[in-house]
Amino acid sequence: MNEVETRRLLLRRWRSEDLDPYARICADAEAMQYIGSGAPLTREQSEAQISRFVRHWDEHGFGLWAVEHRTSGAFVGFVGLVHQDEWIEGEHKTEVGWRLDPAYWGRGFATEGAVASVRYGFEELGLERIISIIQPANAASRRVAEKAGLTPQGEVRWRGNDVIWYAIDREEWCKPEAEG
Ligand SMILES: CC(C)(COP(=O)(O)OP(=O)(O)OC[C@H]1O[C@@H](n2cnc3c(N)ncnc32)[C@H](O)[C@@H]1OP(=O)(O)O)[C@@H](O)C(=O)NCCC(=O)NCCS
Repeated sequence: MNEVETRRLLLRRWRSEDLDPYARICADAEAMQYIGSGAPLTREQSEAQISRFVRHWDEHGFGLWAVEHRTSGAFVGFVGLVHQDEWIEGEHKTEVGWRLDPAYWGRGFATEGAVASVRYGFEELGLERIISIIQPANAASRRVAEKAGLTPQGEVRWRGNDVIWYAIDREEWCKPEAEG
């Protein structure tokens, strides 16, 4: 089973009806300001991303989940694990990531999903280390990484941007209290 339930969220596989709300998030300048070049995505680009997320699931058996708010059934964004093939700072290349609809920011949802993703990575996938790659100015994202137990490891150049990267090792992972 590739789904995870947290207190308020269902982390599930992607469905075709996710495209509209996902494309709306990715068309939002504020939501995209710290992703890659900072440019919002067209609907076609968002659709291509979802295809890549689905392909990643097929290739690796894990990936980014679509996040659904359990009580309302609303699509909230994504959270989950991505294998970063090109990552060169060490042998551990599985990243935990998150992108949520601004309408749901500030309620602890990203942290809830991040904590569940890290747990999944260690308990279900048997990973040794999970990383997160974040643009330094993205304070909310850095805070989510910290609340999920990751600590800063260094700054590098990554896909054309300066980034700070975080990591958590299996030994130091101890089921943080922030878990939902
Ligand atoms: C990053 C993101 C997922 C956070 O989602 P969220 O559900 O609001 O996150 P949470 O509520 O779990 O936690 C956010 C934390 O950041 C803090 N925070 C938010 N904005 C902040 C800011 N501008 N400066 C400092 N801290 C900030 C919050 O106070 C909270 O910390 P706290 O619990 O200690 O108060 C959301 O902002 C988002 O989708 N951003 C756009 C996509 C993105 O940048 N993804 C990450 C790419 S690396």
